[in-house]
Amino acid sequence: MVSLGALGLGVSLAVAFLGGLGSQTATIAQLAPTPSPTENPIPSKPDVPYVPTPEIVVTEMLKLAGVNRDDVVYDLGSGDGRLVITAIKDYGARRGVGVDINPGLVRLSNENAQKAGVGDRAQFLQQDLFQTDFREASVVTLYLLPQINLKLRPKLLSDLKPGTRLVSHAFTMGDWKPDKTVTVPGNATSSVPRNIYYWVVPANISGDWQGRVEYAPGRSQPYTLRFNQQFQQVKGDAIADGKKYTIPNITLTGDRLTFSRSETIQGQQGTIQFNGRIEGNTLKGTAGIKWGVLTRNFPIVAQRSTTLQGRAQR
Ligand SMILES: C[S@@+](CC[C@H](N)C(=O)[O-])C[C@H]1O[C@@H](n2cnc3c(N)ncnc32)[C@H](O)[C@@H]1O
Repeated sequence: MVSLGALGLGVSLAVAFLGGLGSQTATIAQLAPTPSPTENPIPSKPDVPYVPTPEIVVTEMLKLAGVNRDDVVYDLGSGDGRLVITAIKDYGARRGVGVDINPGLVRLSNENAQKAGVGDRAQFLQQDLFQTDFREASVVTLYLLPQINLKLRPKLLSDLKPGTRLVSHAFTMGDWKPDKTVTVPGNATSSVPRNIYYWVVPANISGDWQGRVEYAPGRSQPYTLRFNQQFQQVKGDAIADGKKYTIPNITLTGDRLTFSRSETIQGQQGTIQFNGRIEGNTLKGTAGIKWGVLTRNFPIVAQRSTTLQGRAQR
């Protein structure tokens, strides 16, 4: 078998991988049912008034999140329960949990879930969403307010697993840019167009990752991959043999990392495509090299230098 070095991929390519509320002015269209005197009073003031998401927007939010039977869906500030109930009933979610501070709405949600025949898979908690343990969620839906989204953002990023999908009706997350935005046009039930925003919670990849690639029998090269991230946007360098290479075309989706690089060597187009996963402080994957008609795959394992982890940058 021809070695990579003999292919001329040597340093330059082998190391290449090295090397509503809608408009905030909307009126509070529907008030929560008033709790009866026997119920607990509302424990603290809601951060957001109750305004239900129109059904058409509920559908688009759950579609955008790609809800399926493997999902556990949390609606933080769940109103009458419609997102959780529809996620189970129409999209087959395994389970749904709604959290609302208003006990009248929690009671109404439980009644609605029973009526919809999903009472066994829907749970509604009377809780402050800032105190809620939502780590098990695979999908989180929100219809809050811009400043409440921002206040919640650090908890979402630290508590949710990488890969968790997040959908917000009408409001963004400040400088955490959405991965997708969909506009639901106005219709009979909602005269104004509504924006919905979608994010995938990114893994924490910041820091230096050390590895060694064996590019020919008995010949290997140590390297460092250095990543800086702002949420899902990642910049990176590969450092090997005293040289620094910019890593192009980096994509981080949840815990999945890809990057690729192409260049022409001796008149032949060569590409390296890396596909891998971040598992805590270990990056594992495969770098596939193509050069002309030749292809070769290298297993890649790199460890993060724990002193250089950058949790705060996620
Ligand atoms: C705009 S409504 C959205 C209702 C539902 N998610 C929907 O889209 O139809 C916001 C909901 O958040 C609830 N809420 C406000 N502050 C809260 C808090 N700190 N903890 C839990 N729920 C809260 C309100 O009671 C209200 O039902």
